[in-house]
Amino acid sequence: MKEHLPNQPRHVAIIMDGNGRWAKKRHLPREAGHYAGMGAVREVVRAATDTGLANLTLFAFSSENWKRPKTEVGALMALFRAYFRSDMDELVERNVRMRIIGHRSRVAPDIQQMIEDSEKRTIANTGMNLTFAFDYGGQEEIANAARELARAAAEGRLDPETITPELFAARLFTSALPEPDLVIRTSGERRLSNFLLWQSAYAELLFLDTLWPDFGRAELLQAMENFAARDRRFGAVSSEAVA
Ligand code: FPP
Repeated sequence: MKEHLPNQPRHVAIIMDGNGRWAKKRHLPREAGHYAGMGAVREVVRAATDTGLANLTLFAFSSENWKRPKTEVGALMALFRAYFRSDMDELVERNVRMRIIGHRSRVAPDIQQMIEDSEKRTIANTGMNLTFAFDYGGQEEIANAARELARAAAEGRLDPETITPELFAARLFTSALPEPDLVIRTSGERRLSNFLLWQSAYAELLFLDTLWPDFGRAELLQAMENFAARDRRFGAVSSEAVA
């Protein structure tokens, strides 16, 4: 599936949920669940690049996740550092282009540096776009875009009548990416939790009971098959009704 087949998603976005419950089931600390979750990230990224997926976006840390206990936030940050250190070479080898979307100024300076380095190091890569949503919140992203446009209008640089969905989308973190075709959430919750709110307007949603650390290659491929069988109408009538 190296070229884009009609019923394959161009962009899969995943809300990786259930690390804590995975650990609890095993009487392990929550941090152990996050560590296992990092293993799932690794496997899914490998599977996605192997199948030729063009865009994969993973929700790694939400703007609301700062409210978790300090020790858990610290453990998550340590994991992100470890991931950047251990996996960047392989990502470069796999021709992956890395992007991080979110409010990066709130994260520790060394992580900001890692983010910048990873983006710079992969900027010329032409394979899969791997995007981590990190300190990301969809409402905040939309409010930021609205503020920028309002400022431009107030300063006379923009005619409000020219504001279209496309112009608005160009102000979002994801301006370089197509909208997600498929949004997956693991662990049985059926919410978007502030993830890619604008961008998911027409996305197919797939809610799975699998806990994130148990999600791997087979689960990704199955999710893509599930997507391929759906009839996407984008507000029009079904393709069968037209045929
Ligand atoms: C949700 O599980 C997951 C997160 C808050 C963060 C996702 C983090 C990872 C997958 C770990 C490492 C990632 C990278 C990129 C190295 P939860 O804690 O909300 O689970 P629960 O709902 O069962 O408590």
